[in-house]
Order: sequence, then C-alpha cells, then structure tokens
Amino acid sequence: ELGPYRHFMQKEIHEQPRAVSDTIEAVIDNNGFGPELFGDKAAEVFDAIDAVKILACGTSYYAGMTAKYWIESIAGIRCDVEIASEYRYRDIVANPKELIVTISQSGETLDTMEALKYAKSQGMEQTLSICNVPESAIPRASKIVYYTRAGAEIGVASTKAFTTQLVALFTLACTLAKVKGRLTAEQEHGYLEELRALPGSVQHALNIEPQIIAWAEKFAPKHNALFLGRGVHYPIALEGALKLKEISYIHAEAYPAGELKHGPLALVDESMPVVVIAPNDQLLEKVKSNIQEVRARGGEMFVFADLDSNFSEAEQVHVIRTPRHTGVLSPIVHTIPVQLLSYHTALAVGTDVDKPRNLAKSVTVE
Ligand code: F6R
Repeated sequence: ELGPYRHFMQKEIHEQPRAVSDTIEAVIDNNGFGPELFGDKAAEVFDAIDAVKILACGTSYYAGMTAKYWIESIAGIRCDVEIASEYRYRDIVANPKELIVTISQSGETLDTMEALKYAKSQGMEQTLSICNVPESAIPRASKIVYYTRAGAEIGVASTKAFTTQLVALFTLACTLAKVKGRLTAEQEHGYLEELRALPGSVQHALNIEPQIIAWAEKFAPKHNALFLGRGVHYPIALEGALKLKEISYIHAEAYPAGELKHGPLALVDESMPVVVIAPNDQLLEKVKSNIQEVRARGGEMFVFADLDSNFSEAEQVHVIRTPRHTGVLSPIVHTIPVQLLSYHTALAVGTDVDKPRNLAKSVTVE
C-alpha cells in the first residue's frame, strides 16, 4: 500500500497534485463557479446569507483562517473563524443570516459536530459542511455539503486533507462572490486559470524536497522553532508550526510577523531557527523588514520564497524558492514546503511519523 514511500504521511504529501486535481475537477467540468457545485439546495442557502462563520479544530481551523482572507477580499462578505470547542460553550449572538461552515477531514470530530448542533439550536439554519469522508456525521447534519476528494488519509497529521480543504474554500469564496454579483467574467476566468495551474504548481513545490531535507538536518537537534508569515500566509505559518510539533515533538510557535516586536522577539537568539513564509505579495516588503529584526538578534532564518520574491541568501538567511509565482493560491502551494520540513525533521529525529504519541486520527471525544 505504501508503494515507494516510507510512511503514509510521505505518500499523502506526494499525492497532493492528484488530490487537488480531483477536488477542482467539478469546477473545471462546470467551467466556472456557481451554487450548483454545492448541491441542489445551495442557491437558496447562499441567497439567504450575508455573513460566514467557520467552525473547526486543528489543521481544519487553519484552513478556515486562510479562507477568511479569501471570503472577505473576493466575495466581500464578513467572515469569522472560531475554534469549535470554544464556540460550543459560549454565549453567542445569533445571526440567522450567517452561513455556518464546518470543516472536518473525518466528519466525526465531536467538538465540531457539537458546535454545529449549537449553532442550529440558536436559529442558524444555513449550514455547509466541507468534509473528506462521505456520509460521515457532520455532513449528514448539514444542509449542504462540499466533499474534498483527498481520498483516505491515514497518517495522523493532516496533509492532503488540508490542501484540498483550501481548494474547496477558495471555490466557496469565488462562488459567494458570483452569487452576490461581485465576480466579473474576467475575474472568474482568471481564478479558473489559477486553479487549473494548481496541480502543476504543487508538483513543482514537491520537487524542492532535496533542498528541504538539507534544512531538516539542521532542525532535528533544535528544541524550539518560530514560524512567521503575514496576511494569507500567516495561517500557513501556524500550520507549519503545528505539523512540526505534532510529529517531531519540537516546540514550535507561529506569529504574524508584525507581532514580533510585541513579545516573541525576546526569544530570538542563535539557537532559535525562524521559518519565514515569504512569497511575493503586497506584504513582502514588510516581511523583509521583520526579517532584518530577527537577523539583528542573531537568529538563523529559513525563508520559503517564490520565483518573484527577489530574496537573496545572506549570512544567517537561507532561502528556498518554490518554482512558480502562484498568486491568490500561493498559501496552498506554500503549505507543501512546511509539510516536507516537518516530515524530514521527524525522520531525522526518529519519531513515529504516522502515529505521533498521544494523538488520534479522529477525535470523537472531548
Ligand atoms: C493535525 C490534525 C488535527 C485535525 C483536527 C481536526 O495534523 O490532523 O489537528 O486537523 O483534529 O480533525 P478533522 O478535520 O477530522 O475534524
């Protein structure tokens, strides 16, 4: 079953061009975005809402955080993201015009399920589940469903489920934009082209694995790591830190790079590697000045840049470039290097990659 791979996690990381391609297939076949992609009841659901609330746990929550940037900028609809285990136990201000979006690979996560039930009990009837397992509990409890087509995910650490969730959420953002009359034909064409190019861009990112292995050797003996990103790449920094801690047991934290001087900069010294997600976007110059702050404190930086982000190697600054500039879908492409970094670091540390200690694949208890 593993084929040429040593672990399911490695296999699943490498399956992502296929997983992403299967998940975008419906959009490509449809030759555009639209409620029909979300089933028969979707047109009515999308008409009835004027805000989005995303509920999820763990990696799925980070997919939701990424989606907030897309939904607010592309669709112009207010979007909040909340950890399911928090939402379910607090007093909320009900908004029946809010689309409740749950994201779950397994479709069985108890806290996400309970958060959904709670929202429904408070009068939120418009519910969408983004899920990888057909007919699991959460999609069954939701009015409309969008299935990611990652295929069975066996490694405990979520990889291909995350990138396909991002594809589904981008599709949601574009569809909401279309329904609300905010998507020009030209924009729709542009986003479709970006989706079409995505499997190839993911494959290109996988091809940088040998360079990442060299970095992983340096990470393995460390006890801490810091991940930085800004804007839509901040959730990818969070995902990178979660992946590293869960499979290599190295303590890692992520911050939006602009927060550095509000506290975490005090942690930076020669023994703290700092991973920076820095593709060329409108925040790149800001990220560069954040990097200078780290450098001035003796920190060693590991920067994931893209073809366009005119970064140069320097003392204490290592750079790996993803081979394309991928625009609005860049967070999907830049997930690949952080997955590979955590995988190869865990290999070097010698942990049980597919079954990290204390964790379960499907969390059906509180
Ligand atoms: C991390 C990981 C977990 C899950 C979380 C939610 O790699 O896999 O954080 O993302 O337990 O699981 P689902 O998506 O099944 O609800």
